[in-house]
Amino acid sequence: VGVTLTFRDVTREREVSDMKSDFVSFVTHQLRTPLAGIKWMLELAAEDPALPADAASYVEDAREAAQRLIDLVNDLLDISRLERGRLTVEPVPVRLGDLTQSVLDETALILRDKGHVVSVSGGDAVPAVLADVQLLRQVVLNLTSNAIKYTPAGGAIAIAMRPEAGRVTWAITDNGIGIPGASRARLFEKFYRADNAAAVETEGTGLGLYLVRLILEHLGGHIQCESTEGQGSTFTLTLPVAP
Ligand SMILES: Nc1ncnc2c1ncn2[C@@H]1O[C@H](COP(=O)(O)OP(=O)(O)OP(=O)(O)O)[C@@H](O)[C@H]1O
Ligand SMILES: [Mg+2]
Repeated sequence: VGVTLTFRDVTREREVSDMKSDFVSFVTHQLRTPLAGIKWMLELAAEDPALPADAASYVEDAREAAQRLIDLVNDLLDISRLERGRLTVEPVPVRLGDLTQSVLDETALILRDKGHVVSVSGGDAVPAVLADVQLLRQVVLNLTSNAIKYTPAGGAIAIAMRPEAGRVTWAITDNGIGIPGASRARLFEKFYRADNAAAVETEGTGLGLYLVRLILEHLGGHIQCESTEGQGSTFTLTLPVAP
């Protein structure tokens, strides 16, 4: 009977890992400014009344692509900060009902395009939660855009909030394509996309739900998913009530 202890110096691995995160955050940070410039120029170009219809549609596609790149860069930047614990959060009381409404206003155009009907309930009945507004907005936006994206046109999306023993629950239910059982456990992994994503024509990197999980863990919250393939999904998050 004996015990073997093995010690290994991991200083080098730590250094490499830090260098990798530094590199990611440097690159993404450097991409943000020129990308914002491109999007701004394309918006100006779209307003030109002399623009032929063909060109206007190219400009619009380019503007959408620039927006997707900006969203991706922002996600990567937040992830690299959260992973390194370098994100300074300022938890303040946030009203989830108001935040939800502002995200729905932001996504109104795409909601109308897809013809989804959205219902919201319980916003006035729940107390404020303690969270960082920008980060919580990312969470609500990511979950909402997934519900929009993975629901065929003319779908129904329901957002419900309720108080629950010192915490607040916020749930979004869609009647979209649903998620296969085998994939459900992996949804919150970095870069993971389930096979169902191929069924609908969508762009995506599989970072959204990973970011949602990182943020909620950071804010003392929690997220879970229930889904029936072909019928729809519900994502439920809980957060502590502000004192
Ligand atoms: N409401 C939903 N209905 C059905 N499948 C979903 C839903 N939300 C997420 N999924 C599945 O979970 C996967 C991971 O979602 P996640 O938001 O992380 O990535 P994404 O939407 O593919 O890309 P992005 O990084 O742009 O958000 C999706 O690719 C999809 O397969
Ligand atoms: Mg997503």
